[in-house]
Amino acid sequence: MRGANLIGGHWIEPAGSASLHVRDAATGQVIAHVPAMASDGAKAAVDAAAAALPKWADTSLSDRANLLRRCAQRLRTQRDRLADIITAEAGKPLAESLGEVDYSADYFDSAGDEALRLTTEALPPRRQGRAQSAVPEPIGVVAAVTPWNFPLAMLARKTAPALAAGCTQIAKPAEETPLSALALAEILVEEGLPRGVVNVITGEPGPIVNAWLQDGRVRKLSFTGSTEVGRLLMHGAAAQVVRLSLELGGHAPFLVFADADMAAAVDAAILGKFRVAGQTCICPNRFIVHASVAEDFTARMTRAAAALPVGMGRTPGVRVGPLISDHAVARVHAQVKDAIDRGGRVLTGGSTVKVPHCVDRFFAPTVIAGATPSMRCFHEETFGPVAPIATAEDDDAMIRLANATPFGLAGYAFSADPDRVAWTAKRLQCGIVGCNTTAVSDAYAPFGGRGWSGFGREGGRWGIDEYISWKYICEARSDGLASR
Ligand code: SIN
Repeated sequence: MRGANLIGGHWIEPAGSASLHVRDAATGQVIAHVPAMASDGAKAAVDAAAAALPKWADTSLSDRANLLRRCAQRLRTQRDRLADIITAEAGKPLAESLGEVDYSADYFDSAGDEALRLTTEALPPRRQGRAQSAVPEPIGVVAAVTPWNFPLAMLARKTAPALAAGCTQIAKPAEETPLSALALAEILVEEGLPRGVVNVITGEPGPIVNAWLQDGRVRKLSFTGSTEVGRLLMHGAAAQVVRLSLELGGHAPFLVFADADMAAAVDAAILGKFRVAGQTCICPNRFIVHASVAEDFTARMTRAAAALPVGMGRTPGVRVGPLISDHAVARVHAQVKDAIDRGGRVLTGGSTVKVPHCVDRFFAPTVIAGATPSMRCFHEETFGPVAPIATAEDDDAMIRLANATPFGLAGYAFSADPDRVAWTAKRLQCGIVGCNTTAVSDAYAPFGGRGWSGFGREGGRWGIDEYISWKYICEARSDGLASR
């Protein structure tokens, strides 16, 4: 698998000690090396992106749209190869990796569609003798810092809108999963993206991101990752007043009302909770179930979770792969122990399971009954395959519990009553609401949160707007006519 970095159209191979190992997430075996860039590599990437900016910003909208659509197509034709890379470095089941490639391609198509709508808007004249317009201009050089859980899609949803808007990009994928990002860079180059328009470098984040935030030419940074790092970036961005989009941690409530279709709610819960082994920002983190149906829901959840095959992502039929690191395993263990100490009952799972020839990071799908707000899993993001279930006596109490968090990314409501669903969607304090579904990921919809889950939106026209600086032009007409 290719580990070379891309700067200014040149591929830079890893050299000697200045390189990082990339490991198979399931076996721990080294599968590639990538360069360990630091501040000089970061600066070279900005130099290349800044040099490429004027020409790319002048490219016609239709040329940009065509290129984006060609990239979408290429992602689809390379679906199997890309999915293999994702599964190798991130560990997720192959079926999920294939879905991630499709999702990534959709971001390119969506950005291609939106690029064509990026035209000057004439504003209605508010005074006699004035013409006014709003002109969408690219922000400039933009940085993308992406996580390991969706190593292709999270970059796709930053790169595609940036290119559509006429920005040039510098990107740094997660140390654990750089290969999907480098494969995307290769596709962009092969599809004719001019030199320097996208530059992808690898290495430890600190020196690279600091160099970018201090370089006045970088005008925006889009980050997906933890709230803790998001806060540091907000401090770092202050010096050069860098615009930010931050997609940070989540703590999604999953509400099951008394009238919910239990079978459908459990199917959706399993799908949402155990996707990427619970390592997504939008996965349900807290199950809040109406007391009258709690026993039924809990029994069904326990049976379904216990039946999920755990193993290597490339093994057919596997539904739950490894966690990304020993640190992640320790955090999940600590949350489960804390829940037990506070009176929770582990109904299935609760520990790691051994998978032959693999690292000891496979955590069994876990269901905990008797969850309460005093437990860590009820106020910290778990990022692991643990489903804590709490009960509440009425709808208002369910909503209160759901909103008792500073996070606000996603929330889910299950009820057969459309009015109850609409009432809940309105009250949940978060950026994304799934009503009778957890399949909320859509490249054409605005993805993002509020509160500690960050700000900014990715996807559709909202995603492009994050890369646009609107210029307002107000023209006094000496002929006294307000022609527009
Ligand atoms: C995330 O939660 O980390 C991203 C999930 C998605 O876009 O589906």
